[in-house]
Amino acid sequence: RIVPVILSGGAGTRLWPASRETYPKQFLPLLGAKSTFEETLARVSDKAIFTDPVIVTGEDFRFLVADQLTRAGMTGRIVLEPMRRDSGPAIAVAAELVRASDPNGVMLVLAADHLVTDAAAFAATAKAGLDAAEAGAIVTFGIKPAYAATGYGYIRPGANMDGRVRMVGAFVEKPDLETAERFLAEGYLWNSGNFLFRADVFLGELRTFEPEIAAAAEAVASKVVVDRAGTITFERLDREAFAASPAKSVDYAVMERTDRAAVIEADYAWSDLGSWNALWDMSPKDEAGNAVRGNVSLADTRNSYVASEDIHTAVVGLDDIAVITTKDAVLVARRDVGNELKLLVSTLRAAP
Ligand code: GDD
Ligand code: MG
Repeated sequence: RIVPVILSGGAGTRLWPASRETYPKQFLPLLGAKSTFEETLARVSDKAIFTDPVIVTGEDFRFLVADQLTRAGMTGRIVLEPMRRDSGPAIAVAAELVRASDPNGVMLVLAADHLVTDAAAFAATAKAGLDAAEAGAIVTFGIKPAYAATGYGYIRPGANMDGRVRMVGAFVEKPDLETAERFLAEGYLWNSGNFLFRADVFLGELRTFEPEIAAAAEAVASKVVVDRAGTITFERLDREAFAASPAKSVDYAVMERTDRAAVIEADYAWSDLGSWNALWDMSPKDEAGNAVRGNVSLADTRNSYVASEDIHTAVVGLDDIAVITTKDAVLVARRDVGNELKLLVSTLRAAP
C-alpha cells in the first residue's frame, strides 16, 4: 500500500483575510462544507490502496490537524516541525520515517491546500504510477496548463515508459513569463505538487543533490519525540537538528535535477486555490458569473467573488471584483490580484 504524506505547512496569505497565519486556508471550508485538508484526507482514505496518512505540519497547527483528522474518522501520524524549512526538508523527514517502517515503502506526497474534485480519478492516477515508482521512478502528476502561470513548475513529457507513465524530459520550477509562454506553446504540463516514489529512492537522490538536507533529515528522524494524546499521536522534531537543514523546496532540491522523474498526465480537474481568482474559477456561479458565499446581496454585479462570514455584505454596480468580509477585516480587490495581496499582507504583519 501507498503511504500518503500530506504537507500542510503553507500560510496561504493570498487568501487573506479569510486565511490567517494562525488559521491558514487549508483548514477553512472555502468551497462546500469541508476544508481542503479534510478533502485531501478523504482522497487517500481508500484502505485498499493507502495506509494511514503521515501529516507534516507546524507545531501551531497541531490541534487543527488533530480535530479535522478525528472528524474525518481517521487516524494517522502527525509530524510537527518546530519551524518552516520549505517542502524539501518536510518531505525528507517523512521519507526517513516511511523508510524506517518499510525499507521499500512507496509514498505519495500531497498538498493539503489543493482542490481535486474527482477523488476516484486521483486514486486511479496514483495506482497507474505505482509500478514505475516501485521500479525507482519519482512520479509527478502533470496538469494541462490553462495559461502561462509563473507560480508553477513545468514538466516536459518525454518518452513513453509504461501505460500512462512517461519519462520527464525537463522540469523547470517557476519560469519567468516569457519562458512560461513558450512552455505553454510547446506542450509542457504544470507540476501539480504530487510526488509518488519509494522513500529510499528519494533519499538517495537527496543525498546526491542536497547532502545537508539529507543529513539533517537523518539526524531528525533518529530523535523524534512521540507524544500520545488519546487516539492521536504527535511526533515532534528536534529543533536544533531540523534547524540545521537548508530551506529549499523539493522542486529546486530534487525535481529540477533528478533523471528519475516520470509524469502521468492527470485526467481530473485540479486547482491549488492560490488566489481569490482561482477560488472564483472553481466555484459554482450564477448566470451573471458571480460566486457568492454566506450573507451576501448583489445587484448589477458581474463575474465577482463575494463572501461574508457573518456581516451582511452588499455589492452594487461593480464587475470583476473580490469582496471578502470576516469578523475583523474586509478585503475589496480586483478579482485577479495575487502577489499584490501577498505583499500587502506582509506589510500588515510588519506593522505594530
Ligand atoms: N510541512 C510543511 N513545511 N509543508 C510545507 C512547507 C514547510 O515548511 N513549505 C511548504 N509546504 C507545503 C505547502 O503547504 C504546500 O502544501 C506544498 O508544500 C507546496 O508548497 P508551496 O509553498 O505551496 O509551493 P508552490 O505553490 O509555490 O509550488 C509548488 O506547488 C505548485 C502547485 O501548486 C511546486 O511544487 C510547483 O512546482 C507546483 O506547480
Ligand atoms: Mg502552493
